[in-house]
Formats: sequence, structure tokens, C-alpha cells
Amino acid sequence: MNIEDMKAKLKRELSPARFQHSLGVMAESIKLARFYNIDQKKAGIAGLLHDCAKHLNSAEVLALVEEKGLIVDDILINTPSLHHGIAAPIIASEQYGVSDGEILDAIYWHSTGRAGMTPLEKIVFVADYIEPGRKFGNLHEARKAAYEDINRCILMLAELTIMHVLKKGDFLHPDTINARNDALMNVKKGIKGLTETL
Ligand SMILES: [Fe+2]
Ligand SMILES: [Fe+2]
Repeated sequence: MNIEDMKAKLKRELSPARFQHSLGVMAESIKLARFYNIDQKKAGIAGLLHDCAKHLNSAEVLALVEEKGLIVDDILINTPSLHHGIAAPIIASEQYGVSDGEILDAIYWHSTGRAGMTPLEKIVFVADYIEPGRKFGNLHEARKAAYEDINRCILMLAELTIMHVLKKGDFLHPDTINARNDALMNVKKGIKGLTETL
């Protein structure tokens, strides 16, 4: 499926606001990929499709998890706001014809983050928060940091997410904590680029 067909299908599936957000994440992902010199086409597809399972309800996602035999931890199962991330790579591959593992991983990890994110995963994780239409706390500093020091940006975004989750009294997924600590480690080491950490 080409990118225009992907957009047309996504527009049919998602709410107008979610579709606009997806276009924003696509544009921001391409901009970040250009800035950090990674594959812009992959970044654009991953950004566009990161929320492609947002229209599914939790029961549908959990049925899909069961059908595909995915191993999903208890915290994920009990956190509905993370469910669309689990389902997104399945929808992207089966309904949008995406077979590239790097794109599917970036889509999968966008909602929790994780330690050792790949460059593409970092870009989609960041773009999801900083796209121009997104309103989530004070993103001014994070938007600036994205193009100066992406690990500091990830640190700020992971901490914003953690505080938001704590305020709501939801489960805090360990991968989000790991993403935050990994970003802090990179910041302390003075690593400013997209270098992968292990
Ligand atoms: Fe999402
Ligand atoms: Fe999103």
C-alpha cells in the first residue's frame, strides 16, 4: 500500500482529531529523521501509523492478543491506554501491508518507550508528544530539546508521562521507567545524538 492509500484508510478508521494527530506525528517524524539523518520514509510511515489501532476497544485488542498468542504482561493488560500500542503492529502489517520490522517496532514501543530504543523508536516516541497539535502539559522545553539533545527530550517526556500516570492513579509500566532511566543515563554520559544504548 502506498502512503496516500495508507492515509485514506487511516482517515476512514480514526476520529478526525486522531487522524490530524497522526498527520502531525508523521510530519514531525520526517522532520526529526531528516535532522538526525535516518530514513525519512520509514519515519513517516511509522509516525502516520503509530495510532492505527486506536479505534479498537480493549476487548477487541485483548481478543487479538489471544488470537495471535502474544505474550503480554499483566500491567499492559490492566492499562487500557496502552492497548492500542500492542495491537498497532498487527493492524499495520495485516491491514496496511507494512512488513518492515523497524517500523513495526517503532509503532509497538511508542506508548511505553523502553530502554535501548532504536533511533527510529526514539523519533516516533518523541514526535508523538511534540507534534504541533499535541497538548500535554508544558511541551515548550521538550520541543526545543528534541532538536538539541534528543535524550534529554526523552527524559523530559518520560517524566511528564510518569507524573501524569501517577496523578491518575494508573499502573506505571516498567518499560516507561526503563525508558526514563536509560535517557537519564545518556544525559549523564553527555550522549546527545541517536546512538543506541544497550
Ligand atoms: Fe498512541
Ligand atoms: Fe499518538
